[in-house]
Amino acid sequence: MIYAKYSTVIIGSGIAGLYSALKIEQQVGLPDGILLVTKSKLGESNSRYAQGGMVGVMKENKMDSTVSHISDTIKAGAGLSEFNTVKFISENSDAVIKDLMKFGVEFDRNDNNELTFTLEAAHSVNRVLHAGGDATGRMIEEALCKKVKETSNIEVYENTVAVELLVNSEKQCRGVIVFNETTHEYETIYAPVVILATGGIGQLYKYTTNPIGATGDGLAIAYNAGAVMQDMEFVQFHPTALAIDGEENRFLISEAVRGEGAKLVDADGVEFMHKYHEKRELAPRDIVTRANFNEMLEKHLNNVYLNATCIDSKKLAKRFPNISKKCLENGIDIAKDFIPVAPAAHYFMGGVKTNIKGETTIQGLYAIGETASTGLHGANRLASNSLLECVVCAYEVADVLRTMQLKTPKQIDAEIKRVIDVYNNDSDDVPEDIDVADLKHELQNIMWDYVGILRSEKSLLTAIEKLNRLKLKFHRSIKCFNRAEYEFKNMLTVAQLIAISAYKRKESRGAHYRLDYLNTNEECIHSHLTKEEGELSFVN
Ligand code: FAD
Ligand code: SIN
Repeated sequence: MIYAKYSTVIIGSGIAGLYSALKIEQQVGLPDGILLVTKSKLGESNSRYAQGGMVGVMKENKMDSTVSHISDTIKAGAGLSEFNTVKFISENSDAVIKDLMKFGVEFDRNDNNELTFTLEAAHSVNRVLHAGGDATGRMIEEALCKKVKETSNIEVYENTVAVELLVNSEKQCRGVIVFNETTHEYETIYAPVVILATGGIGQLYKYTTNPIGATGDGLAIAYNAGAVMQDMEFVQFHPTALAIDGEENRFLISEAVRGEGAKLVDADGVEFMHKYHEKRELAPRDIVTRANFNEMLEKHLNNVYLNATCIDSKKLAKRFPNISKKCLENGIDIAKDFIPVAPAAHYFMGGVKTNIKGETTIQGLYAIGETASTGLHGANRLASNSLLECVVCAYEVADVLRTMQLKTPKQIDAEIKRVIDVYNNDSDDVPEDIDVADLKHELQNIMWDYVGILRSEKSLLTAIEKLNRLKLKFHRSIKCFNRAEYEFKNMLTVAQLIAISAYKRKESRGAHYRLDYLNTNEECIHSHLTKEEGELSFVN
Protein backbone atom coordinates (compact mmCIF):
# COMPACT_ATOMS: atom_id res chain seq x y z
CA MET A 1 0.00 0.00 0.00
CA ILE A 2 1.22 3.46 -0.94
CA TYR A 3 0.13 6.54 1.06
CA ALA A 4 -0.24 10.11 -0.18
CA LYS A 5 -1.76 13.41 0.93
CA TYR A 6 -3.45 16.10 -1.19
CA SER A 7 -5.54 19.19 -0.48
CA THR A 8 -8.24 18.00 -2.89
CA VAL A 9 -8.84 14.79 -4.82
CA ILE A 10 -11.08 14.86 -7.87
CA ILE A 11 -12.31 11.55 -9.26
CA GLY A 12 -13.10 11.67 -12.98
CA SER A 13 -11.81 13.52 -16.01
CA GLY A 14 -15.01 14.46 -17.80
CA ILE A 15 -15.96 18.09 -18.17
CA ALA A 16 -17.05 18.37 -14.50
CA GLY A 17 -13.78 16.92 -13.18
CA LEU A 18 -11.47 18.82 -15.51
CA TYR A 19 -13.12 22.20 -15.12
CA SER A 20 -13.37 21.88 -11.32
CA ALA A 21 -9.64 21.01 -11.15
CA LEU A 22 -8.76 24.14 -13.14
CA LYS A 23 -11.05 26.42 -11.16
CA ILE A 24 -9.88 25.09 -7.79
CA GLU A 25 -6.27 25.46 -8.81
CA GLN A 26 -6.97 29.03 -9.94
CA GLN A 27 -8.90 30.15 -6.86
CA VAL A 28 -8.03 28.09 -3.83
CA GLY A 29 -4.96 27.95 -1.58
CA LEU A 30 -3.69 24.36 -1.90
CA PRO A 31 -0.89 23.47 0.54
CA ASP A 32 -0.82 19.87 -0.71
CA GLY A 33 -1.90 20.31 -4.34
CA ILE A 34 -4.70 18.67 -6.35
CA LEU A 35 -4.89 15.10 -7.52
CA LEU A 36 -7.11 14.15 -10.48
CA VAL A 37 -7.76 10.42 -10.58
CA THR A 38 -9.25 8.85 -13.68
CA LYS A 39 -9.80 5.21 -14.47
CA SER A 40 -8.89 5.42 -18.12
CA LYS A 41 -6.90 7.93 -20.20
CA LEU A 42 -7.27 11.60 -19.27
CA GLY A 43 -10.44 12.94 -20.89
CA GLU A 44 -12.02 9.57 -21.70
CA SER A 45 -15.59 10.06 -20.48
CA ASN A 46 -19.21 10.57 -21.50
CA SER A 47 -18.36 14.24 -21.95
CA ARG A 48 -16.10 13.44 -24.88
CA TYR A 49 -19.05 12.07 -26.88
CA ALA A 50 -21.48 14.95 -26.31
CA GLN A 51 -22.79 16.10 -29.66
CA GLY A 52 -25.71 18.52 -29.65
CA GLY A 53 -24.20 21.13 -27.39
CA MET A 54 -24.42 23.13 -24.21
CA VAL A 55 -27.27 25.38 -23.19
CA GLY A 56 -26.11 28.96 -22.86
CA VAL A 57 -28.58 31.67 -21.96
CA MET A 58 -26.20 34.29 -23.32
CA LYS A 59 -26.68 38.04 -23.12
CA GLU A 60 -25.95 38.33 -26.85
CA ASN A 61 -28.87 36.02 -27.77
CA LYS A 62 -31.69 38.53 -27.91
CA MET A 63 -34.26 35.78 -28.63
CA ASP A 64 -33.60 34.16 -25.27
CA SER A 65 -34.12 34.83 -21.57
CA THR A 66 -33.54 32.98 -18.31
CA VAL A 67 -37.31 33.10 -17.73
CA SER A 68 -37.83 31.11 -20.91
CA HIS A 69 -35.03 28.62 -20.16
CA ILE A 70 -36.26 28.11 -16.58
CA SER A 71 -39.77 27.48 -17.86
CA ASP A 72 -38.61 24.96 -20.51
CA THR A 73 -36.42 23.09 -18.00
CA ILE A 74 -39.21 22.86 -15.45
CA LYS A 75 -41.76 21.72 -18.06
CA ALA A 76 -39.44 18.97 -19.30
CA GLY A 77 -38.65 17.94 -15.69
CA ALA A 78 -42.30 16.88 -15.18
CA GLY A 79 -42.79 18.61 -11.85
CA LEU A 80 -39.65 17.34 -10.12
CA SER A 81 -37.12 20.07 -10.93
CA GLU A 82 -36.09 22.36 -8.08
CA PHE A 83 -36.98 25.94 -9.01
CA ASN A 84 -34.07 27.56 -7.14
CA THR A 85 -31.54 25.18 -8.67
CA VAL A 86 -32.89 25.73 -12.18
CA LYS A 87 -32.87 29.51 -11.68
CA PHE A 88 -29.34 29.55 -10.30
CA ILE A 89 -27.93 27.43 -13.13
CA SER A 90 -29.75 29.39 -15.80
CA GLU A 91 -28.74 32.78 -14.40
CA ASN A 92 -25.09 31.77 -14.12
CA SER A 93 -24.77 30.20 -17.56
CA ASP A 94 -23.59 33.35 -19.35
CA ALA A 95 -20.76 34.08 -16.86
CA VAL A 96 -19.59 30.47 -16.58
CA ILE A 97 -19.56 29.85 -20.33
CA LYS A 98 -17.55 33.04 -20.85
CA ASP A 99 -15.13 31.80 -18.20
CA LEU A 100 -14.93 28.43 -19.98
CA MET A 101 -13.96 30.25 -23.16
CA LYS A 102 -10.99 31.77 -21.31
CA PHE A 103 -9.68 28.22 -20.90
CA GLY A 104 -9.55 27.86 -24.68
CA VAL A 105 -13.01 26.44 -25.47
CA GLU A 106 -14.24 27.73 -28.82
CA PHE A 107 -17.91 27.46 -29.69
CA ASP A 108 -19.05 27.63 -33.31
CA ARG A 109 -19.58 31.12 -34.72
CA ASN A 110 -21.11 32.53 -37.92
CA ASP A 111 -19.31 34.56 -40.59
CA ASN A 112 -19.72 37.69 -38.43
CA ASN A 113 -17.94 35.93 -35.57
CA GLU A 114 -21.17 35.75 -33.54
CA LEU A 115 -21.99 32.66 -31.48
CA THR A 116 -24.47 30.37 -33.25
CA PHE A 117 -27.34 28.80 -31.32
CA THR A 118 -29.21 25.70 -32.37
CA LEU A 119 -32.61 24.30 -31.40
CA GLU A 120 -33.17 21.03 -29.57
CA ALA A 121 -36.31 19.28 -28.41
CA ALA A 122 -38.51 21.04 -25.84
CA HIS A 123 -36.56 24.32 -26.02
CA SER A 124 -38.71 27.28 -27.04
CA VAL A 125 -35.87 29.12 -28.75
CA ASN A 126 -32.48 28.41 -30.33
CA ARG A 127 -30.15 28.48 -27.30
CA VAL A 128 -27.77 25.53 -27.64
CA LEU A 129 -24.12 26.41 -28.23
CA HIS A 130 -22.09 23.85 -30.14
CA ALA A 131 -18.50 23.27 -31.14
CA GLY A 132 -16.91 21.48 -34.09
CA GLY A 133 -20.42 21.12 -35.56
CA ASP A 134 -21.50 17.99 -33.71
CA ALA A 135 -18.35 17.40 -31.62
CA THR A 136 -19.13 19.74 -28.72
CA GLY A 137 -17.95 17.40 -25.96
CA ARG A 138 -14.67 16.51 -27.64
CA MET A 139 -13.81 20.14 -28.37
CA ILE A 140 -14.42 21.18 -24.75
CA GLU A 141 -12.56 18.14 -23.37
CA GLU A 142 -9.55 18.73 -25.54
CA ALA A 143 -9.25 22.37 -24.50
CA LEU A 144 -9.60 21.53 -20.79
CA CYS A 145 -7.23 18.51 -20.94
CA LYS A 146 -4.60 20.72 -22.54
CA LYS A 147 -4.89 23.26 -19.70
CA VAL A 148 -4.80 20.55 -17.03
CA LYS A 149 -1.61 19.10 -18.54
CA GLU A 150 -0.04 22.58 -18.51
CA THR A 151 -0.93 23.14 -14.82
CA SER A 152 1.85 21.83 -12.61
CA ASN A 153 -0.21 21.99 -9.40
CA ILE A 154 -2.62 19.37 -10.75
CA GLU A 155 -1.25 15.86 -10.61
CA VAL A 156 -3.03 13.26 -12.75
CA TYR A 157 -3.30 9.52 -12.10
CA GLU A 158 -4.53 7.72 -15.23
CA ASN A 159 -5.74 4.08 -15.32
CA THR A 160 -6.53 4.38 -11.63
CA VAL A 161 -9.88 3.37 -10.16
CA ALA A 162 -11.33 4.93 -7.01
CA VAL A 163 -12.65 1.97 -5.05
CA GLU A 164 -13.70 3.16 -1.60
CA LEU A 165 -14.18 6.41 0.26
CA LEU A 166 -12.64 6.88 3.70
CA VAL A 167 -15.48 8.11 5.89
CA ASN A 168 -15.46 8.09 9.68
CA SER A 169 -18.33 7.50 12.10
CA GLU A 170 -18.95 11.27 12.25
CA LYS A 171 -19.74 11.17 8.51
CA GLN A 172 -16.60 13.07 7.57
CA CYS A 173 -14.74 12.11 4.43
CA ARG A 174 -10.98 11.85 4.90
CA GLY A 175 -9.88 10.56 1.52
CA VAL A 176 -10.18 7.66 -0.86
CA ILE A 177 -8.57 4.33 -1.71
CA VAL A 178 -7.55 3.90 -5.35
CA PHE A 179 -6.41 0.90 -7.36
CA ASN A 180 -3.80 1.27 -10.09
CA GLU A 181 -4.86 -0.96 -12.98
CA THR A 182 -1.34 -1.00 -14.44
CA THR A 183 0.70 -1.85 -11.33
CA HIS A 184 -2.15 -3.56 -9.43
CA GLU A 185 -1.19 -1.51 -6.37
CA TYR A 186 -3.54 0.18 -3.89
CA GLU A 187 -2.96 3.70 -2.66
CA THR A 188 -4.55 5.45 0.30
CA ILE A 189 -5.01 9.11 -0.46
CA TYR A 190 -5.75 11.34 2.48
CA ALA A 191 -7.54 14.56 1.60
CA PRO A 192 -9.97 16.90 3.38
CA VAL A 193 -11.97 17.22 0.15
CA VAL A 194 -12.97 14.48 -2.29
CA ILE A 195 -14.98 15.43 -5.36
CA LEU A 196 -16.87 12.73 -7.25
CA ALA A 197 -17.16 13.62 -10.95
CA THR A 198 -17.57 10.04 -12.11
CA GLY A 199 -20.38 10.44 -14.65
CA GLY A 200 -23.31 8.20 -15.50
CA ILE A 201 -24.64 4.68 -15.70
CA GLY A 202 -25.45 3.90 -19.35
CA GLN A 203 -23.49 0.65 -19.25
CA LEU A 204 -26.10 -0.84 -16.93
CA TYR A 205 -28.31 -1.25 -20.00
CA LYS A 206 -28.02 -3.52 -23.02
CA TYR A 207 -28.40 -0.62 -25.43
CA THR A 208 -26.69 2.63 -24.55
CA THR A 209 -25.11 5.71 -26.07
CA ASN A 210 -22.56 5.77 -23.22
CA PRO A 211 -18.97 4.55 -23.53
CA ILE A 212 -17.75 1.56 -21.51
CA GLY A 213 -16.63 3.54 -18.47
CA ALA A 214 -20.17 4.66 -17.57
CA THR A 215 -20.67 2.08 -14.82
CA GLY A 216 -21.97 4.23 -11.94
CA ASP A 217 -18.84 3.85 -9.78
CA GLY A 218 -19.20 7.16 -7.95
CA LEU A 219 -22.82 6.39 -7.11
CA ALA A 220 -21.97 3.00 -5.64
CA ILE A 221 -19.02 4.19 -3.58
CA ALA A 222 -20.97 7.18 -2.26
CA TYR A 223 -23.89 4.92 -1.33
CA ASN A 224 -21.54 2.47 0.39
CA ALA A 225 -20.03 5.35 2.34
CA GLY A 226 -23.48 6.36 3.63
CA ALA A 227 -24.39 9.28 1.31
CA VAL A 228 -28.06 9.95 0.57
CA MET A 229 -29.02 9.00 -3.00
CA GLN A 230 -31.82 10.84 -4.78
CA ASP A 231 -34.34 9.93 -7.53
CA MET A 232 -32.50 6.76 -8.52
CA GLU A 233 -35.40 5.55 -10.69
CA PHE A 234 -34.95 8.27 -13.32
CA VAL A 235 -32.97 6.98 -16.29
CA GLN A 236 -33.22 8.92 -19.54
CA PHE A 237 -33.42 6.93 -22.77
CA HIS A 238 -32.45 8.84 -25.89
CA PRO A 239 -34.89 8.24 -28.77
CA THR A 240 -32.41 8.20 -31.63
CA ALA A 241 -29.34 5.99 -31.25
CA LEU A 242 -27.99 4.56 -34.49
CA ALA A 243 -29.45 1.04 -34.72
CA ILE A 244 -26.93 -1.15 -36.44
CA ASP A 245 -27.45 -4.89 -35.96
CA GLY A 246 -25.16 -6.41 -33.37
CA GLU A 247 -23.99 -3.08 -31.90
CA GLU A 248 -25.14 -2.61 -28.33
CA ASN A 249 -23.00 0.45 -27.55
CA ARG A 250 -24.76 2.76 -29.94
CA PHE A 251 -23.58 5.90 -31.66
CA LEU A 252 -25.85 8.87 -31.02
CA ILE A 253 -27.79 10.64 -33.73
CA SER A 254 -28.11 14.03 -32.06
CA GLU A 255 -31.43 15.60 -31.25
CA ALA A 256 -30.03 18.64 -33.06
CA VAL A 257 -30.68 16.76 -36.34
CA ARG A 258 -34.39 16.90 -35.45
CA GLY A 259 -33.83 20.49 -34.35
CA GLU A 260 -32.75 21.23 -37.94
CA GLY A 261 -35.90 19.59 -39.32
CA ALA A 262 -35.42 15.79 -39.61
CA LYS A 263 -38.56 13.65 -39.18
CA LEU A 264 -39.16 10.26 -37.58
CA VAL A 265 -40.74 7.70 -39.89
CA ASP A 266 -41.69 4.01 -39.76
CA ALA A 267 -40.43 1.29 -42.11
CA ASP A 268 -42.85 2.52 -44.81
CA GLY A 269 -41.56 6.08 -44.55
CA VAL A 270 -44.73 7.26 -42.78
CA GLU A 271 -44.36 10.00 -40.15
CA PHE A 272 -45.91 9.19 -36.76
CA MET A 273 -44.95 11.84 -34.17
CA HIS A 274 -48.21 13.80 -34.73
CA LYS A 275 -49.99 10.90 -32.95
CA TYR A 276 -47.97 11.46 -29.76
CA HIS A 277 -47.40 15.18 -29.15
CA GLU A 278 -48.23 18.55 -30.65
CA LYS A 279 -44.53 19.40 -30.81
CA ARG A 280 -43.95 16.21 -32.80
CA GLU A 281 -40.18 15.48 -33.17
CA LEU A 282 -39.41 18.32 -30.76
CA ALA A 283 -41.52 16.99 -27.89
CA PRO A 284 -39.72 16.28 -24.59
CA ARG A 285 -37.25 13.44 -24.89
CA ASP A 286 -39.18 10.88 -22.82
CA ILE A 287 -42.22 11.31 -25.06
CA VAL A 288 -40.26 10.86 -28.31
CA THR A 289 -38.52 7.80 -26.81
CA ARG A 290 -41.80 6.13 -25.87
CA ALA A 291 -43.25 7.01 -29.27
CA ASN A 292 -40.36 5.29 -31.07
CA PHE A 293 -40.53 2.33 -28.72
CA ASN A 294 -44.27 2.01 -29.19
CA GLU A 295 -43.98 2.11 -32.99
CA MET A 296 -41.31 -0.59 -32.81
CA LEU A 297 -43.46 -2.80 -30.54
CA GLU A 298 -46.70 -2.33 -32.51
CA LYS A 299 -45.11 -2.85 -35.92
CA HIS A 300 -42.61 -5.51 -34.80
CA LEU A 301 -39.63 -3.42 -35.89
CA ASN A 302 -36.07 -3.42 -34.56
CA ASN A 303 -35.89 0.29 -35.23
CA VAL A 304 -37.66 3.28 -36.73
CA TYR A 305 -35.97 5.78 -39.08
CA LEU A 306 -34.85 9.37 -39.05
CA ASN A 307 -35.43 11.14 -42.33
CA ALA A 308 -32.90 13.97 -42.68
CA THR A 309 -33.11 14.08 -46.47
CA CYS A 310 -35.34 17.18 -46.20
CA ILE A 311 -32.36 19.18 -44.87
CA ASP A 312 -30.03 20.85 -47.36
CA SER A 313 -27.16 18.43 -47.98
CA LYS A 314 -24.45 21.11 -47.62
CA LYS A 315 -25.89 22.18 -44.29
CA LEU A 316 -26.05 18.56 -43.12
CA ALA A 317 -22.40 18.00 -43.93
CA LYS A 318 -21.30 21.22 -42.21
CA ARG A 319 -23.48 20.94 -39.09
CA PHE A 320 -23.09 17.20 -38.57
CA PRO A 321 -19.71 16.12 -39.93
CA ASN A 322 -19.23 13.26 -37.45
CA ILE A 323 -22.75 11.90 -37.75
CA SER A 324 -22.45 12.03 -41.56
CA LYS A 325 -19.10 10.22 -41.40
CA LYS A 326 -20.22 7.52 -38.96
CA CYS A 327 -23.37 6.83 -41.01
CA LEU A 328 -21.38 6.70 -44.23
CA GLU A 329 -19.02 4.14 -42.65
CA ASN A 330 -22.15 2.02 -42.20
CA GLY A 331 -23.35 2.53 -45.77
CA ILE A 332 -25.87 5.27 -44.94
CA ASP A 333 -25.70 8.58 -46.79
CA ILE A 334 -27.79 10.81 -44.51
CA ALA A 335 -28.48 13.26 -47.34
CA LYS A 336 -30.19 10.47 -49.28
CA ASP A 337 -31.00 7.54 -46.97
CA PHE A 338 -33.16 7.14 -43.89
CA ILE A 339 -31.13 6.57 -40.71
CA PRO A 340 -32.16 3.48 -38.63
CA VAL A 341 -32.62 4.64 -35.03
CA ALA A 342 -33.87 3.17 -31.75
CA PRO A 343 -33.92 4.24 -28.09
CA ALA A 344 -30.90 3.63 -25.84
CA ALA A 345 -30.00 4.44 -22.22
CA HIS A 346 -28.39 7.85 -22.28
CA TYR A 347 -28.39 9.89 -19.07
CA PHE A 348 -29.00 9.48 -15.34
CA MET A 349 -31.16 12.10 -13.64
CA GLY A 350 -30.77 10.46 -10.22
CA GLY A 351 -27.57 10.51 -8.23
CA VAL A 352 -25.80 11.51 -5.07
CA LYS A 353 -28.00 14.13 -3.43
CA THR A 354 -26.25 17.50 -3.48
CA ASN A 355 -26.99 21.17 -3.32
CA ILE A 356 -25.89 23.56 -6.03
CA LYS A 357 -22.40 23.72 -4.53
CA GLY A 358 -21.89 19.98 -4.84
CA GLU A 359 -22.13 19.36 -1.09
CA THR A 360 -23.37 15.86 -0.27
CA THR A 361 -24.69 14.61 3.07
CA ILE A 362 -21.12 13.61 4.03
CA GLN A 363 -18.82 16.41 5.16
CA GLY A 364 -15.84 16.83 2.81
CA LEU A 365 -17.48 14.76 0.06
CA TYR A 366 -18.71 16.63 -3.01
CA ALA A 367 -20.40 15.37 -6.17
CA ILE A 368 -20.74 17.27 -9.46
CA GLY A 369 -21.87 16.54 -13.02
CA GLU A 370 -23.91 13.50 -13.96
CA THR A 371 -23.10 11.69 -10.69
CA ALA A 372 -24.88 14.36 -8.69
CA SER A 373 -28.59 14.93 -8.29
CA THR A 374 -28.98 18.67 -7.80
CA GLY A 375 -32.67 18.75 -8.71
CA LEU A 376 -32.06 20.57 -12.02
CA HIS A 377 -33.34 17.87 -14.34
CA GLY A 378 -36.28 16.56 -12.35
CA ALA A 379 -37.83 13.50 -13.96
CA ASN A 380 -36.55 14.19 -17.46
CA ARG A 381 -33.53 16.24 -18.49
CA LEU A 382 -33.93 18.99 -21.08
CA ALA A 383 -31.42 18.49 -23.90
CA SER A 384 -27.99 20.08 -23.43
CA ASN A 385 -28.64 21.08 -19.82
CA SER A 386 -26.15 18.49 -18.58
CA LEU A 387 -22.96 20.10 -19.82
CA LEU A 388 -24.22 23.40 -18.43
CA GLU A 389 -24.85 21.83 -15.03
CA CYS A 390 -21.34 20.29 -15.07
CA VAL A 391 -19.65 23.65 -15.54
CA VAL A 392 -21.85 25.72 -13.22
CA CYS A 393 -21.48 23.21 -10.37
CA ALA A 394 -17.73 22.79 -10.96
CA TYR A 395 -17.42 26.58 -10.73
CA GLU A 396 -19.46 26.63 -7.52
CA VAL A 397 -17.51 23.87 -5.81
CA ALA A 398 -14.31 25.86 -6.35
CA ASP A 399 -16.03 28.88 -4.85
CA VAL A 400 -16.96 26.93 -1.70
CA LEU A 401 -13.44 25.59 -1.21
CA ARG A 402 -12.02 29.11 -1.46
CA THR A 403 -13.22 29.86 2.06
CA MET A 404 -11.95 26.60 3.59
CA GLN A 405 -8.66 25.63 5.18
CA LEU A 406 -7.72 22.49 3.29
CA LYS A 407 -5.77 20.64 5.94
CA THR A 408 -5.63 16.88 6.40
CA PRO A 409 -6.24 15.85 10.04
CA LYS A 410 -3.19 14.22 11.63
CA GLN A 411 -4.90 11.37 13.39
CA ILE A 412 -6.51 8.48 11.50
CA ASP A 413 -9.90 7.33 12.76
CA ALA A 414 -10.14 3.70 13.85
CA GLU A 415 -12.90 2.83 11.35
CA ILE A 416 -10.85 4.31 8.50
CA LYS A 417 -7.83 2.30 9.58
CA ARG A 418 -9.98 -0.86 9.47
CA VAL A 419 -10.95 -0.11 5.85
CA ILE A 420 -7.35 0.50 4.84
CA ASP A 421 -6.37 -2.80 6.49
CA VAL A 422 -8.76 -4.72 4.21
CA TYR A 423 -6.95 -3.45 1.10
CA ASN A 424 -3.56 -3.86 2.77
CA ASN A 425 -4.17 -7.48 3.61
CA ASP A 426 -3.08 -9.70 0.74
CA SER A 427 -3.00 -12.97 2.70
CA ASP A 428 -5.92 -14.49 0.79
CA ASP A 429 -5.43 -12.80 -2.55
CA VAL A 430 -5.95 -15.87 -4.71
CA PRO A 431 -8.36 -14.72 -7.35
CA GLU A 432 -11.10 -17.17 -8.10
CA ASP A 433 -12.02 -17.07 -11.78
CA ILE A 434 -15.12 -15.01 -12.47
CA ASP A 435 -16.41 -14.38 -15.99
CA VAL A 436 -17.25 -10.73 -15.41
CA ALA A 437 -18.10 -10.09 -19.07
CA ASP A 438 -20.79 -12.75 -18.87
CA LEU A 439 -22.23 -11.40 -15.62
CA LYS A 440 -22.20 -7.87 -17.02
CA HIS A 441 -24.15 -9.03 -20.04
CA GLU A 442 -26.70 -10.69 -17.81
CA LEU A 443 -27.12 -7.51 -15.76
CA GLN A 444 -27.52 -5.37 -18.89
CA ASN A 445 -30.24 -7.67 -20.20
CA ILE A 446 -32.11 -7.64 -16.88
CA MET A 447 -32.06 -3.85 -16.74
CA TRP A 448 -33.12 -3.44 -20.38
CA ASP A 449 -35.92 -6.01 -20.20
CA TYR A 450 -37.37 -5.24 -16.76
CA VAL A 451 -36.22 -1.74 -15.65
CA GLY A 452 -36.30 -0.07 -19.05
CA ILE A 453 -38.54 2.33 -20.92
CA LEU A 454 -41.81 0.67 -19.80
CA ARG A 455 -42.00 -0.66 -16.23
CA SER A 456 -44.54 -2.39 -14.01
CA GLU A 457 -44.68 -3.95 -10.55
CA LYS A 458 -44.26 -7.37 -12.14
CA SER A 459 -41.25 -6.38 -14.24
CA LEU A 460 -39.56 -4.58 -11.35
CA LEU A 461 -40.02 -7.44 -8.89
CA THR A 462 -38.64 -9.80 -11.53
CA ALA A 463 -35.61 -7.52 -11.91
CA ILE A 464 -35.04 -7.32 -8.16
CA GLU A 465 -35.17 -11.09 -7.86
CA LYS A 466 -32.88 -11.66 -10.85
CA LEU A 467 -30.36 -9.10 -9.57
CA ASN A 468 -30.33 -10.75 -6.14
CA ARG A 469 -29.53 -14.07 -7.83
CA LEU A 470 -26.89 -12.49 -10.02
CA LYS A 471 -25.20 -11.13 -6.92
CA LEU A 472 -24.80 -14.67 -5.60
CA LYS A 473 -22.71 -15.54 -8.68
CA PHE A 474 -20.25 -12.72 -8.00
CA HIS A 475 -17.99 -14.01 -5.26
CA ARG A 476 -16.45 -10.76 -4.11
CA SER A 477 -17.40 -8.72 -1.10
CA ILE A 478 -15.08 -5.73 -0.75
CA LYS A 479 -11.78 -6.33 -2.47
CA CYS A 480 -11.74 -7.19 -6.18
CA PHE A 481 -8.90 -8.12 -8.50
CA ASN A 482 -9.17 -5.80 -11.47
CA ARG A 483 -11.03 -2.78 -12.86
CA ALA A 484 -13.71 -4.90 -14.55
CA GLU A 485 -14.60 -6.57 -11.25
CA TYR A 486 -14.79 -3.26 -9.40
CA GLU A 487 -17.00 -1.88 -12.15
CA PHE A 488 -19.29 -4.88 -12.07
CA LYS A 489 -19.59 -4.67 -8.28
CA ASN A 490 -20.64 -1.02 -8.66
CA MET A 491 -23.03 -1.79 -11.51
CA LEU A 492 -24.76 -4.39 -9.38
CA THR A 493 -25.22 -1.97 -6.47
CA VAL A 494 -26.56 0.80 -8.70
CA ALA A 495 -28.82 -1.58 -10.67
CA GLN A 496 -30.39 -2.74 -7.42
CA LEU A 497 -30.92 0.84 -6.26
CA ILE A 498 -32.57 1.81 -9.55
CA ALA A 499 -34.85 -1.23 -9.56
CA ILE A 500 -35.89 -0.75 -5.92
CA SER A 501 -36.49 2.97 -6.37
CA ALA A 502 -38.49 2.34 -9.55
CA TYR A 503 -40.58 -0.27 -7.72
CA LYS A 504 -41.33 2.18 -4.93
CA ARG A 505 -42.42 5.05 -7.20
CA LYS A 506 -46.01 4.11 -7.91
CA GLU A 507 -46.75 6.71 -10.58
CA SER A 508 -45.60 7.67 -14.08
CA ARG A 509 -43.54 10.83 -14.34
CA GLY A 510 -41.07 11.92 -17.00
CA ALA A 511 -38.72 9.10 -17.85
CA HIS A 512 -40.19 6.76 -15.21
CA TYR A 513 -43.16 5.15 -16.95
CA ARG A 514 -45.24 2.59 -15.05
CA LEU A 515 -47.77 0.62 -17.11
CA ASP A 516 -49.64 -0.13 -13.88
CA TYR A 517 -49.67 3.51 -12.66
CA LEU A 518 -50.14 5.63 -15.76
CA ASN A 519 -50.93 8.88 -13.96
CA THR A 520 -48.66 11.32 -12.20
CA ASN A 521 -49.34 11.52 -8.48
CA GLU A 522 -48.71 15.08 -7.31
CA GLU A 523 -47.91 13.78 -3.83
CA CYS A 524 -44.88 11.83 -5.04
CA ILE A 525 -41.83 13.98 -4.50
CA HIS A 526 -38.08 13.22 -4.58
CA SER A 527 -37.15 9.69 -3.53
CA HIS A 528 -34.20 8.98 -1.27
CA LEU A 529 -32.22 5.85 -0.44
CA THR A 530 -29.45 5.35 2.09
CA LYS A 531 -27.41 2.36 3.11
CA GLU A 532 -28.45 2.78 6.74
CA GLU A 533 -32.01 1.95 5.71
CA GLY A 534 -30.82 -1.40 4.39
CA GLU A 535 -32.27 -0.86 0.91
CA LEU A 536 -30.30 -3.62 -0.74
CA SER A 537 -31.81 -6.27 1.48
CA PHE A 538 -35.20 -5.43 -0.05
CA VAL A 539 -37.50 -8.43 -0.45
CA ASN A 540 -41.14 -8.02 -1.32
P1 FAD B 1 -18.18 12.07 -17.53
O1 FAD B 1 -17.92 12.96 -18.66
O2 FAD B 1 -18.86 10.79 -17.82
O3 FAD B 1 -16.79 11.74 -16.83
C1 FAD B 1 -16.69 10.77 -15.81
C2 FAD B 1 -15.23 10.51 -15.55
O4 FAD B 1 -15.08 9.73 -14.37
C3 FAD B 1 -14.55 9.70 -16.65
O5 FAD B 1 -13.29 10.28 -16.89
C4 FAD B 1 -14.40 8.31 -16.04
O6 FAD B 1 -13.33 7.59 -16.57
C5 FAD B 1 -14.16 8.69 -14.59
N1 FAD B 1 -14.47 7.63 -13.61
C6 FAD B 1 -15.64 6.99 -13.44
N2 FAD B 1 -15.53 6.12 -12.41
C7 FAD B 1 -14.28 6.23 -11.91
C8 FAD B 1 -13.57 5.59 -10.87
N3 FAD B 1 -14.12 4.64 -10.09
N4 FAD B 1 -12.29 5.93 -10.66
C9 FAD B 1 -11.68 6.86 -11.43
N5 FAD B 1 -12.31 7.51 -12.46
C10 FAD B 1 -13.60 7.19 -12.68
N6 FAD B 1 -25.15 16.49 -22.58
C11 FAD B 1 -25.34 17.76 -22.99
O7 FAD B 1 -25.57 18.66 -22.18
N7 FAD B 1 -25.26 18.04 -24.32
C12 FAD B 1 -25.01 17.11 -25.28
O8 FAD B 1 -24.93 17.42 -26.44
C13 FAD B 1 -24.83 15.77 -24.85
N8 FAD B 1 -24.61 14.78 -25.74
C14 FAD B 1 -24.31 13.54 -25.29
C15 FAD B 1 -23.97 12.56 -26.21
C16 FAD B 1 -23.59 11.31 -25.77
C17 FAD B 1 -23.23 10.24 -26.77
C18 FAD B 1 -23.56 11.03 -24.39
C19 FAD B 1 -23.13 9.68 -23.89
C20 FAD B 1 -23.93 11.99 -23.47
C21 FAD B 1 -24.30 13.24 -23.91
N9 FAD B 1 -24.67 14.24 -23.02
C22 FAD B 1 -24.89 15.52 -23.46
C23 FAD B 1 -24.59 14.02 -21.57
C24 FAD B 1 -23.26 14.60 -21.07
O9 FAD B 1 -22.26 14.34 -22.01
C25 FAD B 1 -22.85 14.02 -19.74
O10 FAD B 1 -23.93 14.04 -18.85
C26 FAD B 1 -21.73 14.83 -19.14
O11 FAD B 1 -20.70 14.97 -20.08
C27 FAD B 1 -21.22 14.18 -17.88
O12 FAD B 1 -20.02 14.79 -17.52
P2 FAD B 1 -19.30 14.37 -16.18
O13 FAD B 1 -18.04 15.15 -16.12
O14 FAD B 1 -20.24 14.44 -15.06
O15 FAD B 1 -18.99 12.81 -16.38
C1 SIN C 1 -28.01 15.09 -28.39
O1 SIN C 1 -27.16 15.68 -29.05
O2 SIN C 1 -29.07 14.63 -28.84
C2 SIN C 1 -27.75 14.86 -26.95
C3 SIN C 1 -28.04 16.08 -26.23
C4 SIN C 1 -28.14 15.80 -24.77
O3 SIN C 1 -28.10 14.65 -24.35
O4 SIN C 1 -28.28 16.78 -24.04
